[in-house]
Amino acid sequence: MAPTKVFISRRVPEDAIAVLRRTGASVTVNPHDRVLSPAELVRAARGKSGLLCLLTDTIDRSFLDAMDGLRGIALMAVGFNNVDLAAASARLIPVSNTPGVLTDAVADLAWALLLATARRIPEAERFLRRGRFRAWGPMLFLGGDLRGKTLGIAGAGRIGAAVGRRATGFGLKVIYADGKRNADLEKETGARRVSLSALLAGSDYVTLHVPLTPKTLHLIGPRELGRMKQSACLINTSRGPVVDEAALARALRDGRIAGAGLDVFENEPRVHPELLKLPNVVLLPHIGSATVETRTRMAVMAAENLAAMLRGERAKNCINPEVYEKLRKVT
Ligand code: DGY
Repeated sequence: MAPTKVFISRRVPEDAIAVLRRTGASVTVNPHDRVLSPAELVRAARGKSGLLCLLTDTIDRSFLDAMDGLRGIALMAVGFNNVDLAAASARLIPVSNTPGVLTDAVADLAWALLLATARRIPEAERFLRRGRFRAWGPMLFLGGDLRGKTLGIAGAGRIGAAVGRRATGFGLKVIYADGKRNADLEKETGARRVSLSALLAGSDYVTLHVPLTPKTLHLIGPRELGRMKQSACLINTSRGPVVDEAALARALRDGRIAGAGLDVFENEPRVHPELLKLPNVVLLPHIGSATVETRTRMAVMAAENLAAMLRGERAKNCINPEVYEKLRKVT
């Protein structure tokens, strides 16, 4: 019998490839160190039974229509806005993601951005590298304190809550906005649940941890930025389109808010040209989960999910479990 074929859309940690090889599958990895175009992805994935892909791959209706015999899609990411789940379910293709394993890495990076923004670290470093550091200065690169300030968390799921827990060490008060109460976060940090509008008005640092859905698209636009304190900073490690980037650039340029730290962008990898010109925004190339340990855990989790799908078993982190119900009825 011919081996099951699997395609991996980008080089991932070897441990994950080993998981798939151990199933007896023939594994092909994208040989280029870049994102494949939609047409290239179709060509590479057609005829394969399994696909391990990334948040940079668009898994939409037209991609799925071009597949034949695809039995599972394992996404190496927790956010799955790049996958048309309804279309995958309609074609009885299970899809999985990688929740939990990247929580701490992303929470750490949100704090790295918050500290870098509050204390103007990249700006100060650029100044030094340009040879402009002549002497300690009483007014040199003054930033904002953390102790006694308020951290506002929009979205208190796994990652948002992990960001909140870290706030106690820095002496910040925590408020959060979420459709659901997070009793554990409240117990551990004394956090209070408020409306988004109250969160924006009452926070010194606002950090975003919501999934990208039609409801959260441009959750932060001109009106919301206008509600924030003029001294406040906005941190985004969730998904770029949650923030209206043009409105943010205007707010930063006009001093409507003090700063921003962004790991994600509206049209990645493109960054709004106005943001690139501003000194009061820290910009990172979507590295929230980029640690050796976390990326290895994510890749292995994705591979284990895919291996289960190929065996015809229910993947542990399936995000469209209705597929299994439908498959049960068909067989
Ligand atoms: C995710 O998994 O959604 C993260 O953005 C990856 O860094």
